Amino acid sequence: MDRAIGVIDSGVGGLTVVQELMRQLPKEKLIYLGDTARCPYGSRPAEEVKLFTWEMVRFLLNKNIKMLVVACNTATAFTLKELQQSLDIPVVGVIQPGARAAIKCTNNNHVGVIGTEGTIRSSAYTNALEKINADIHVYGLACPLLAPMVENGILAGMEAKSVVEESISPLKQNKDMDTLILGCTHYPLLKDTIQEVIGNNVTIISSSEETARETSTILDVHGLLNSKTDEPIHQFYTTGELNIFIEITRKIFKDSNFSKLEIKRAS
Ligand code: SIN
Repeated sequence: MDRAIGVIDSGVGGLTVVQELMRQLPKEKLIYLGDTARCPYGSRPAEEVKLFTWEMVRFLLNKNIKMLVVACNTATAFTLKELQQSLDIPVVGVIQPGARAAIKCTNNNHVGVIGTEGTIRSSAYTNALEKINADIHVYGLACPLLAPMVENGILAGMEAKSVVEESISPLKQNKDMDTLILGCTHYPLLKDTIQEVIGNNVTIISSSEETARETSTILDVHGLLNSKTDEPIHQFYTTGELNIFIEITRKIFKDSNFSKLEIKRAS
């Protein structure tokens, strides 16, 4: 019960899921691994994404985690089923929670999804949305420039706006679209800019909240919720450049939460 929840991502994007886990499950200890050295995963072949994801999973299994959250859409699209079938701990991804949140939100069943090339090519969101509601219209768009920009620490400003504009403007042709899923965990870090570009008629969905809710339910159902009351210190690992990772993490977790983190290079 007092073991940690493991969270993996290709880089810093999964920290948006971690933030929500910390908010909804304040007693739970988290161990995060961001594969920043090999990010982005989004334009890599499926087999490579699987290989890298399994390496991350083994790293966290060695830390005796009690549950795994795959906070990377690309890794979820290509490996979730396999992980759920192979591991003897509960595993959640971010695609189904995001699809569920979008279905709850849309008024006219016209939903856009932006993600990496891999996620969009996999049709994982379209399948998840259609499984819940067969009458849904899905507009998928790959935005390969966005995750690398976030990994470089560019989260706002002129450059961010122009890259977001260039990336998502094709979606503006779908006049009926009332809901847009951020199908990459890096994108919530650009949410304000994306909202500004897409307009206020479109509701933006990030799967973080719903994923944290699902994690909480699964821990409860399995009797795995932490019973200790002391505030946990979370461990964050990066495979890449430690200073850049710390700098971006500091931007995301304002001072009060930043002090609860222990950040190291994965070895
Ligand atoms: C990426 O690694 O390309 C982005 C992560 C994601 O798909 O959520």
